[in-house]
Amino acid sequence: MERRGFLDKVVPFQPVFLNREKLGRRIEGKTVLITGASSGIGQRLALLLSEFKVHLVVVARREDRLLALKREVEAKAARVSVFAADLRDEEQMGRLLDFLHRLPDGVDIVVSNAGHSIHRSIADSLDRFHDFTRTMGINFFAPVRLMLALAPMLARKRGHIVNVSTVSVLLAPVPHWAAYLASKGAFDAWIRSAGPELAGMGISVSSVYLPLVRTPMIEPTAAYRQAPAMSPDHAARVIARSFYDGKRAYKPWWLVFGQLASLLLGHRMAMFMPKRRSGGGGEG
Ligand SMILES: NC(=O)c1ccc[n+]([C@@H]2O[C@H](COP(=O)([O-])OP(=O)(O)OC[C@H]3O[C@@H](n4cnc5c(N)ncnc54)[C@H](OP(=O)(O)O)[C@@H]3O)[C@@H](O)[C@H]2O)c1
Repeated sequence: MERRGFLDKVVPFQPVFLNREKLGRRIEGKTVLITGASSGIGQRLALLLSEFKVHLVVVARREDRLLALKREVEAKAARVSVFAADLRDEEQMGRLLDFLHRLPDGVDIVVSNAGHSIHRSIADSLDRFHDFTRTMGINFFAPVRLMLALAPMLARKRGHIVNVSTVSVLLAPVPHWAAYLASKGAFDAWIRSAGPELAGMGISVSSVYLPLVRTPMIEPTAAYRQAPAMSPDHAARVIARSFYDGKRAYKPWWLVFGQLASLLLGHRMAMFMPKRRSGGGGEG
């Protein structure tokens, strides 16, 4: 999905120069698990990696979309295994973990990307406790379970975990995003705490803190249609670069200004957020 608004072109997102040779050396002959590969950033990442001789394991609920992705990717150099699963469902997650543990060569790189966002005021959430359990389910509990189950294998293979996160967890929380921000923030805290322990086991961890990215996730939020957003291909390049650049975090260049504003204005940062145009909430 590459629809771009005027501001996407004028607001600079620092370019990402991918060294394809280094990337190829890092991933060829390896297995890369991408959760949330049926759309948006995960799908674009799979397509970016398709020109390399790599085994991609792509996971999401919508099997038809994963199969279409497999056809597109396998027309190039990569090999694809499709695993359709709702990662919030314990049994389906268990089946995915069995599948991954039975792979003859195991998994080398895990891109924890599947996610769900909800834009809804607390006033509209009073009878919607399930919004909080389902965002925690996919944005926190699912990646924690995946990491715990795969850590021994990743340790043996000196593997790599990439956490696809959002800059919002590094800024003052803004109203209407409590379910999303709490769940993304929870996993960010988990991985920052677990990171040194995982590193001690031989597993490297990177977090990519993305700004707004123009994917189906932001479509329901009308106010974001004109807001500047990174393209999903750009975000995919950021993730692919993290496979070999050895950096623990990717953050946009302007983050320091956002953090300063956060410090000075706290929750009043919301005044810089696009205004909601309608009642109810948006999900993606
Ligand atoms: N878009 C942004 O502005 C933005 C900014 C910062 C960070 N991020 C992060 O980037 C990641 C990817 O988001 P995106 O923007 O590419 O959104 P997207 O296009 O909506 O993709 C989300 C992916 O997650 C999968 N998914 C959602 N719930 C799932 C579940 N219960 N089980 C398995 N898979 C599930 C979806 O597949 P199915 O529906 O087929 O299951 C889809 O493939 C998310 O972690 C998000 O928090 C996005």
